[in-house]
Amino acid sequence: MGLANKATPNTSSRDGGIGVQMRDVGKHFDGKVAVEEFSLDLSPGEFVSVIGPSGCGKSTTMLMAAGLLSPSRGEIFIDGAPQTGPITDVGIVFQDHLLLDFRTAFSNVMLQQQIRHLPKKEMESRAHALFGQLGLAHAKDRYPRQLSGGMRQRVSIARALVHDPSLLLMDEPFGALDAITRTQIRHELELLWLQRRMSVLFITHSIEEAIGLSDRVLVMSPTPGRLVEEIVIDLPRPRPAHLGHYEVFNEYAGKLYGAFERMGLYSFEK
Ligand SMILES: Nc1ncnc2c1ncn2[C@@H]1O[C@H](COP(=O)(O)OP(=O)(O)OP(=O)(O)O)[C@@H](O)[C@H]1O
Ligand SMILES: [Mg+2]
Repeated sequence: MGLANKATPNTSSRDGGIGVQMRDVGKHFDGKVAVEEFSLDLSPGEFVSVIGPSGCGKSTTMLMAAGLLSPSRGEIFIDGAPQTGPITDVGIVFQDHLLLDFRTAFSNVMLQQQIRHLPKKEMESRAHALFGQLGLAHAKDRYPRQLSGGMRQRVSIARALVHDPSLLLMDEPFGALDAITRTQIRHELELLWLQRRMSVLFITHSIEEAIGLSDRVLVMSPTPGRLVEEIVIDLPRPRPAHLGHYEVFNEYAGKLYGAFERMGLYSFEK
């Protein structure tokens, strides 16, 4: 389990992440169905991506997994126990970095220590290590407005991981970044995951990003979102920047584009 639930944190090793099970989960807002019969089995330490068109219910699903939004129907289990409210042993990265303007990058990350009342010295050393791993060491005293978009998202990742959560939820974290930065951060995230092995639920619009990071990719249909396809990604790690290096990449990408085509999202002439 992550630091959030530990009296004596262990920084040298971890025993993997927590499992999340969603069973026939549905959510409606004011009578309008946003998510329908969504089932997910995220195993401890697994990296799963959810990909789907805009508005299909990805963010809603993530908020339900975090316990920040209650489902209208269905059940959610965290490590086998029914979810009753917000999970604490979690780190969340939102599409928008949501950093506090008046705090430096380092102090934004240390917010976790203050909110969670965790040991300061240990958290500082963890934050320093993360800043190093994410190439941010030189920028720790800068304010968010003095950082590039990529650096801001790296700070968000550090903030989501500094307390060593067992579950990492990421909602389109690299959506606003350029392709080069996306690929760089993708690699940094994969290395952090290989080191920590927390469970990750990663939401994206990008087929390449999903294949580049995941053990499994789940495809959601247009609204109301339900699962229509599941692909196991069997590629060695860490994965290279250019995934086309692997022949099977085209097979995976073809399956995902195929799912989008069957949903009527693409109608290019053949
Ligand atoms: N708090 C809310 N109140 C009312 N409707 C909502 C609320 N949150 C989401 N919705 C609706 O639920 C549906 C799914 O929204 P959601 O944000 O989960 O989609 P998404 O897949 O994350 O989209 P995007 O890819 O654009 O981020 C949309 O039709 C949206 O308008
Ligand atoms: Mg969203």
